[in-house]
Amino acid sequence: MGMVETLRSVIRFRPIELDPVARRLAKAADVSDLRKIAERRLPHGVFDYIDGAAEDERTVVANTEGYRTRTFRPRVLRDVSNIDPSTTLLGRRLPLPLVLGPTGFARIADPQGELAVARAAARAGLPFTLSTIGTRSIEEVAAVSDGPKWFQLYVFRDRGLTKELVERAKAAGYEALMLTVDTAVFGRRERDIRRGFTLPPKIGLDTIIDGAVHPGWTWAFVRSEPIVFANVAGRDVGDGTSAVALAEYVNTQLDASLSWKDLDWLRSVWDGPLVLKGIQTVADAELAAEAGVDAVSLSNHGGRQLDTAPATVDLIEPVVQAVGDRVEVICDGGVRRGSDVVKAVALGAKAVSVGRAHFYALGAGGERGVDHVLGLLDAGVRRTMALVGATSVDEITRDLLE
Ligand SMILES: Cc1cc2nc3c(=O)[nH]c(=O)nc-3n(C[C@H](O)[C@H](O)[C@H](O)COP(=O)(O)O)c2cc1C
Repeated sequence: MGMVETLRSVIRFRPIELDPVARRLAKAADVSDLRKIAERRLPHGVFDYIDGAAEDERTVVANTEGYRTRTFRPRVLRDVSNIDPSTTLLGRRLPLPLVLGPTGFARIADPQGELAVARAAARAGLPFTLSTIGTRSIEEVAAVSDGPKWFQLYVFRDRGLTKELVERAKAAGYEALMLTVDTAVFGRRERDIRRGFTLPPKIGLDTIIDGAVHPGWTWAFVRSEPIVFANVAGRDVGDGTSAVALAEYVNTQLDASLSWKDLDWLRSVWDGPLVLKGIQTVADAELAAEAGVDAVSLSNHGGRQLDTAPATVDLIEPVVQAVGDRVEVICDGGVRRGSDVVKAVALGAKAVSVGRAHFYALGAGGERGVDHVLGLLDAGVRRTMALVGATSVDEITRDLLE
């Protein structure tokens, strides 16, 4: 009798969740869980395109380790019953110091692609950055999102086309232009080379087998319209209608001659806030400030370009000391948890930007996956603020970190 009562007091069967996406997401406690789910659901080549980085992949590891190895100096008894993580970035109030950074080719993870990410970002009130090589166009994204939108620019050799993209972004209400400057040539992503990965994925014997063991992804992929570089669909730069190795595309179509003097040209076609993404030294941050940009994004492209480039979190303090009074500093790379966001802000960043966090989430659960990861990051920022004794971003100060 006693045993039955004991068992009855402890046994709790969870209600059975019939919705497979909800079931999957309920078990995703953090970004690394979403990564594992994405790895299980996506064909190997697709997962490696998202997860992989350049050469020995040291920088991508350094980015995340840079956060993990920093420790807090938490303060207590500070009345943290009300936490407000909102901040101002490029003149706009945001609920969190967080931007959804550009990730090309989102439809490879989910048929909705950038539309799903943009809608989730808008619901959270956070900026969504559309990549030049997005698989949904400037206008398609604007049609589904009235949230803050930024456009990430790659400068094509064809300046006329580049100018047109900037003008379209402006006309569609994008608030900021983010010029990526770390992609003069394409980084050597060796996982993609080993797999012969192209965009869109070529169908060969290996991909057929890969597709067969990932039926959910394959079924969604074959039922949706072909994946193309939607912003340049039908243009002679190539829109991905035929499979292309991204390295070949970048190296033949983008302008490797881009230099500081081209910023004047860009300013002549874009009069809104300008962010330089891919700054990796104090010296270049100084040049960016002199050039009058509004913000720099300290970024090594998530370790996908120059391997053994420095972890971005290590750049925050010196760059903020040098130019923080003139430009806003965003840190990009390695952010997996709310506590990482708090650390970046403690070091002086205005905000962080994420890439893989929302791409894994998209692969793990589509649009609801992105809602889920934004919820995790929001809760993580709030919890960390409470546990270190900061009630507002102004109170996230340097002394809260070792
Ligand atoms: C799959 C993937 C695609 C990306 N595509 C672009 C892109 O088109 N343009 C760009 O400026 N950065 C691109 N990035 C870099 C991200 O914007 C960002 O710098 C990087 O992902 C940050 O590191 P994290 O993934 O650790 O957050 C991409 C990153 C990934 C993972």
